Amino acid sequence: MSITWNYENFDAAVTSANSSYMNILADVLPSFIDGASDSTVPVLSLPSTTVDLSEIAAHASRIRATSEDVLVLGVGGSSLGGQALIRACGPYSDDHPKVTFLDNLAPVGFPHLLSTLNPGHTHIIAISKSGGTIDTHAQLALAMKWLQEAHCELKDHITVITEPKPSALTKLADLHDLPRLGHSILLGGRYSVLSNVGLLPAAIAGVDIARVRAGAKAVIEQMISAKSIIDIPAAVGAAHIISQHKQNKINISVMLPYADRLSKFGEWYCQLWAESLGKEGVGTTPVIALGPLDQHSQLQLYMEGTRDKSYSFITIDRVDDPAMHLPQTLSDIGMGSLTGLTLHDIVTAMSEGTRHALVETGQPVRHAHLSALNEENIGALFMHFFLETLFGGALLGVDPYSQPGVERCKILAKEFLEKLK
Ligand code: PA5
Repeated sequence: MSITWNYENFDAAVTSANSSYMNILADVLPSFIDGASDSTVPVLSLPSTTVDLSEIAAHASRIRATSEDVLVLGVGGSSLGGQALIRACGPYSDDHPKVTFLDNLAPVGFPHLLSTLNPGHTHIIAISKSGGTIDTHAQLALAMKWLQEAHCELKDHITVITEPKPSALTKLADLHDLPRLGHSILLGGRYSVLSNVGLLPAAIAGVDIARVRAGAKAVIEQMISAKSIIDIPAAVGAAHIISQHKQNKINISVMLPYADRLSKFGEWYCQLWAESLGKEGVGTTPVIALGPLDQHSQLQLYMEGTRDKSYSFITIDRVDDPAMHLPQTLSDIGMGSLTGLTLHDIVTAMSEGTRHALVETGQPVRHAHLSALNEENIGALFMHFFLETLFGGALLGVDPYSQPGVERCKILAKEFLEKLK
C-alpha cells in the first residue's frame, strides 16, 4: 500500500517526469533504496526488520505483568512517536497498563500525578538517545526518589532506552543495574518511532507492533518497485510542498487530520518536519489543525487570511467504534437533519465542506483518504512522512538528520542552570 494524495490548486508541471524538482529526487532515490536494505540508514531499513520484535515483546510482557501504570519519560523524538501510535491505534481494554507520557516538565502536574499512583505497580521507561537531556533526568531523578521512598527495587521498576555509549543515563543504569535497551546510534530521535523507542510503549499498551512495521514496509516496497520517481507519492508530495515554498512563498504547511485519534500524529509530524527541514534560512512552518475542532478556531484565517499556506487533509473512510446513531429527539428542537447519523458521518461532512471551501479560495489543498485507522495504516503514514521529509531535505539542500539549533539551546540552558546555583 501507499498513501496517495489528491492535489488541487498545485502546479502539476512541478511533478511531471522531466521537471527540475523530480530530477533532483530521481538522483537521490538510489541512495534511499540502498538505505532500505542497508543497516546504515535504520529509518529506511527498520520496516523490513523483524528480529528485534521478539525482544521488544518480551520487555513489554515483563513490564505488563507487574504494572498498572507505565510512565514514559523522554522528550521530542523520544516521546511523540509512541504517543502518536498509541493514540491512533487505541482505545485498549483495561487489561493493559495505562501508559502515560510525561514529556513536558510540569512542576505541579508531575508531583501530583506521582501522588495518585501506587509505586509498587508503576513502571518507568526513561528514553533518551543522548542520555544527557536535562528534562528527562530531572523527572527520572524525582521518580527514583519516589520509588526508593516506597522501598521499591529500582531495577524492577525502571527500564532505560539509550545509546550504548558513555552518558549520564548509561552511568545511572549501570549504577542501579537497570534493564537497558539500545537506541540505535544511527537513528535520530524524531526518526525512531518504528524502533524500540516507539514500539515498546506501544506494545505495552496493546498495539500490534508487527503490523505497524508491515504498514511501513509496504510504503518502502512501493518506493523500491516504482517505475518512475513520479510514481512515488512521498516524492510527489515533497516536490509540491517545497516548490510552493520556493516559488510562491507558501511558507506554512497545515495538516488537517479529520480524526481525533490522529491528534498526536499531527504533533509528531510537526516535530519531524520542523526539526528536519527548518535550517539554513529555509523550511516551511508545520501547523496541526485538528478537524473538526479547529474549524472553530483557525479556519477563518485559512479561508480569508494571508495566502501563505498549503493544506494537507487526512480523512478516514471507516471507524470501528460502535456506531451510535443520533436520536429522533433532535427533530423536536429543529435539528432533525442530524437524526440517524453517526458522529463519524458528521466529521465526514465537515471535512468535505471545509476542503471544498478551501479549494474554492484557490489555495493549494491535498487530500489523503485512509480506508481505516489501524496499525498498518499508521505505519504507512509514518513512513510516508519520513520519506516526504527526506525528499524535502534533498530539494531544500539541507541535512534532514541534524538539529544544530536544538543542540545550541540545550547548551545555553545548561549554562543558565549553572548560574542559578
Ligand atoms: O528528534 C530529536 O533529535 C530531538 O527531538 C530529540 O529526540 C530530543 O531533543 C530528545 O533528545 P534525547 O533523546 O537525546 O533525550
